[in-house]
Parts: sequence; C-alpha cells; structure tokens
Amino acid sequence: MGQTLTEKILSAHLVEGEMVKGSEIGIRIDQTLTQDATGTMAYLEFEAMGVPRVKTERSVAYIDHNTLQNGFENADDHRFIGSVCKKHGIYFSRPGNGICHQVHLERFGIPGKTLIGSDSHTPTGGGIGMIAIGAGGMDVAVAMGGGTYYITCPKVVKVNLTGKLQPWVAAKDVILEVLKRLSVKGGVGKVIEYCGEGVKTLSVPERATITNMGAELGATTSIFPSDEITHEFLKAQGREDAYTPLCADADAVYDEEVNIDLSKLEPLAACPHSPDNVKSVSELSGMKIDQVCIGSCTNSSLLDMMKVAHILKGKTVNPDVSLAIAPGSKQVLNMLANNGALAIMIDAGARILESACGPCIGMGQSPNSKGISLRTFNRNFEGRSGTKDGQIYLVSPETAAISALTGVFTDPRTLGDAADITLPEKFTINDNMIVPPADEKDMDSIEVLRGPNIKPFPVSEPLAETIDAKCSLKVGDNITTDHIMPAGAKILPLRSNIPKISEFCFAVCDEKFHDRALELGKSIIVGGSNYGQGSSREHAALAPLYLGVKAVIVKSFARIHMANLINAGIVPLTFANESDYDKIDQMDELKIENIGKQIANGKVIKVTNVTKGFDFEVNADLSDRQKEMLYAGGLLNYTKQNS
Ligand code: F3S
Repeated sequence: MGQTLTEKILSAHLVEGEMVKGSEIGIRIDQTLTQDATGTMAYLEFEAMGVPRVKTERSVAYIDHNTLQNGFENADDHRFIGSVCKKHGIYFSRPGNGICHQVHLERFGIPGKTLIGSDSHTPTGGGIGMIAIGAGGMDVAVAMGGGTYYITCPKVVKVNLTGKLQPWVAAKDVILEVLKRLSVKGGVGKVIEYCGEGVKTLSVPERATITNMGAELGATTSIFPSDEITHEFLKAQGREDAYTPLCADADAVYDEEVNIDLSKLEPLAACPHSPDNVKSVSELSGMKIDQVCIGSCTNSSLLDMMKVAHILKGKTVNPDVSLAIAPGSKQVLNMLANNGALAIMIDAGARILESACGPCIGMGQSPNSKGISLRTFNRNFEGRSGTKDGQIYLVSPETAAISALTGVFTDPRTLGDAADITLPEKFTINDNMIVPPADEKDMDSIEVLRGPNIKPFPVSEPLAETIDAKCSLKVGDNITTDHIMPAGAKILPLRSNIPKISEFCFAVCDEKFHDRALELGKSIIVGGSNYGQGSSREHAALAPLYLGVKAVIVKSFARIHMANLINAGIVPLTFANESDYDKIDQMDELKIENIGKQIANGKVIKVTNVTKGFDFEVNADLSDRQKEMLYAGGLLNYTKQNS
C-alpha cells in the first residue's frame, strides 16, 4: 500500500512507537524556531536543561512579536535571546528582519525536514513540503536539546485541488473555503495534505498562506508536495541545494477526502469572531469599513504585496479608512523599495509598518470602538485586536486593498482583468540581520545577558496523591488562549515575568480570577468544548500553574494547549458525560482521590463534587509518557529525571 507524503516524512523521522493512527509516536526534529513572545521562556527552559549546544540541524530565534519598545522589558528580552543564541548555537533573526514564518520559508525551510516552532502558525513551512508543527516552548527546548517530540500519529485528510483560481480570487479564499467546510475543530488530530492538479497552479507563498491558516482548523499541520514550483522558489532564494522532490504515492490511502475546484471559488471573508464564520465578499459588499491591515505571517509575501501595490497604483485610500501595511520580511520590504511598489503604497496613503507581527498580536493599530477592520491575518478572536468590540473580518490582500480604496467591503473581481504578477527569478538576498552563533570553541566566553524583566519560570511539584480544591473558574465553549492569557502591547512585554503576567490571566472573562485563584492557593478550572483553541502560547498554562491550578476539567481540549498543560504538570481531564458540566458551579469543592493511581489504572477517573454531594466520571486520555510527565510534575522535571 502506498504512503501519503505525511506518512513518508513522519516514518523517516520515527524514533518511538509505530505509525498507528491515534497512538503516540516520537519523532526526530531537524529544525526549531521560536519567536520572542514564547522564546524567552523557551530559552530559560533550554538553559535549565543544561545542554551546552543545540543538537538540531538548524535552530532559529526570531524577534517579531514584541518589537515595540515602550520600556526596557522587550529590549532586555531581545538582548537575552540574542546572547543565548550566540552561546548555544542558535541563529538569531534580529528585530526588523521579519516575521518568523515568512523568513523561515525564505531562508531556512527544507522540503522533507521536520520543524517544530513555539508558534502555532509554524505549519506555514508545509508550503515548502516540511512537516512543520506548532508546539509549546518547553517542547521546543527539549527538541533543541536533542530530545524526541511526541505527537498523536495523525489521520491524513486529502484536499484534492482541481482547476485554477479565477482572477482576483486568492489562496486566502482557498483556506477560508476549507475552514467553512471543516470548521475550527475539523482538523484536530489530522494533517491536511494538498494534492491534485490544482496544486501546480499555486506558488510557494500561496501554498504557505493555505498551510499557515490550517492552524485555524486545529490541524496538527498541513502540507503541500515539493515539486518544480518549490524548486523554482528555492532557486530564486539562492538555496537550490535544499530542493528534494516529494509527493504522496499514487496509491496512497487517505482517511478523508475533500474536493475543491479552484475555478469555482469566489472571494471570501471570515466574519467576527471566528475564522470559520465564512461568508462571500459579495454578500458583505457595500458594508462601510474603518480600517484595513495588510500583512501578518498569512499574507505578507512579496507576491501579496505586489498585488496590493498594483491595486493601489495611482489611487488614494478612502478618507474614512486607515490602511496599514506590514511587509513580512526585510527581503520583501527591500524588494518593494527597490522595485517602486513601496512608493506606490506610500503615495496612495498607506501607513507602512515595520516587518513584524504588529497589529496581528495587538501591537498597535487597534481599530476604533466598534470599528470594522478588514485584515489579511489568520485570527479574528474577540479582543485580539486590542479593541474589545472591534469587528475583525479576515480577507485576502486583494479584497483588503480594493476595499481600502472604496471605503466599503468590495469584491476584488470588480477590478476586471487579472494583473500579471509573478515571483521574481531571483529574490534580493542579504542575511545581514541574521546573526550566526559563535563557534563552539568560543561559547564559554559568551555571557548571557539578563535584565530585571527576566524572572525564573514557575516549577511545578510532583503530582499530589489527592487533589481537593475549589473550582476557581467555570467557563463556556471555545475558550481561546487569548482568553486565558491575553496578548497586546501592555501584556506581551511581561512574557518572561510569570508572576506579573499572571495578573492578566483570564482577565477578559473574569477580572477577579487572579486574586481568587491566589487566595485559594490551589484550584480546578472547569470549561466547555475546544478549550484552549488558538495559539501555542505556553503562558496559558504557566500562568494558571503559577496561580495554583492543579487540574482542568472540560468537554474537550485543543491539541497544543492540552500538551502545554501536561508540560506544566496540570492534569487535563474531560467529562465522561458532558451533562455533568451543567451540575458544577464556580467555587464548588471538587475532590479527586488517589489521582496518580486512578490515572495509572485506566482512562476513567472518579471525581467527587463535595459541595453538591455527587460523584461524576472524567477521562484522562493520556499516553504512558504523558502520565509519567504528570507524576513528575511536568516536562522539565520529567526530562531532568530521565537524563
Ligand atoms: Fe505573528 Fe500573527 Fe503570525 S502574531 S506569527 S503574524 S499569527
């Protein structure tokens, strides 16, 4: 029986377990990436492991999230990361060099390799034929130390692309169509593999837009084959040597199949406040808008920017609209400056931002109250923009640019004939903002520079015999990591200071949670389905750990967040009968006796609601390794015990 591309790459990297769907497998990791918001913690964790030099083929630290410097905190963190990189063998992409996924695709990604990154949009690398997975910072730290990375052996979904996109219909519309069909939960436990004749019509940046936003499906990752188009892209990046042709076998067997005729797609928009709340742009056409933001790791490639410049050329941004554009990398910005496209954007009235995440992570450009903002980004969760009642619509760069001119939601197909915009044969290459690590022989002389913002991370205790604690918080369905640990310009600089950042934990749901949890000393959180969806941020586990949360009982978990809870030593449990969720109130006392033994004995665990006087069952769906990690009190304790 033939293999899918996913199976080929995973089995070539398999170090533990068997390729049985649904079982845990351990894989070797070739490359890692971090961004600064999660990276500071990941490098503190790496240091704690005591490994002198990274053992991966390539590890890169990017500074792209916390690039505003309103105080010393971000600058201190950047200096810390830079010095750790120099000492321990990691490449350091300086602030201004661009967004991690865009730069990694341009300069480091290699078809057929495995990559984990402490950022949920790491699957962008699938656009170049990598198995690229978003993970917690602790997992990345362990992988840098040469440790195995564990995942559930995924099901593989074939997305069969046929036809060719019509003029002004974009790669963004392809992934919005997939999200519309499969929903934000549709990819859980699965890899989305793109196949079919239509693949050949999509460039690498377009493929990367699609794999990037596969994260919004909850998928483990998404992947495209590596073919002549990948070859041309790598050649244009001066990295032809990195090319290997890769595709699924003709007789590969898939678990599910989705068929998309590219020629039938139309421009789409994800409406507030979920990436799967998709409508056609023509349905929304005419709605007045306040702001347009173009950029982010989803849509900031040279190709995207050239299309935007083409639409803006000789025109003026509508007087009622603020248009902000953040090219994805120094390479993109440099090329736009040299080919005149930047002047076109400036001339039209665009506000040019630095090559960084910027508004996507709430670093500036929050819309006005109730403001309607069209963004080419990947997430539109409530409050993420920094404006609580902001209405964020996710659209293609083409829809964004034309709407910025008209001041209303506008279907880009009204532009008429397609523009002939293709990738250059040669990109401008200048890696002077990527600092290589010091030679191994010099590493001892390098001092790691720590400012006062760098505080040690909280270490959890080995699992107690009994958890007897009050429910400090009860929340509903689809709680995102932005609810648990919000981002934004005020909060992000505190990412290396867990006691301080914990003050904002769940503040958007319940301002008193922080004080209540600290007062209780230990507690349990109860939630609904898809708990922890969204980003990979391990702070959404580390802040609750600091606040004494011992277990989280929910209807279902998002994959990365559940892994982060286990890494932090917090027990993730799911209701055996979802109706029991309704019988628990906040501040009820919940007791789990002999929890370690119960976990060891099997999946079903008894919990007593002491306040209301009834028992209910929960599931601990854990691998043996995850159980060991919980007994030890999290991944770091476990790694130390086993090294
Ligand atoms: Fe940055 Fe937003 Fe992507 S925060 S890494 S541009 S999802």
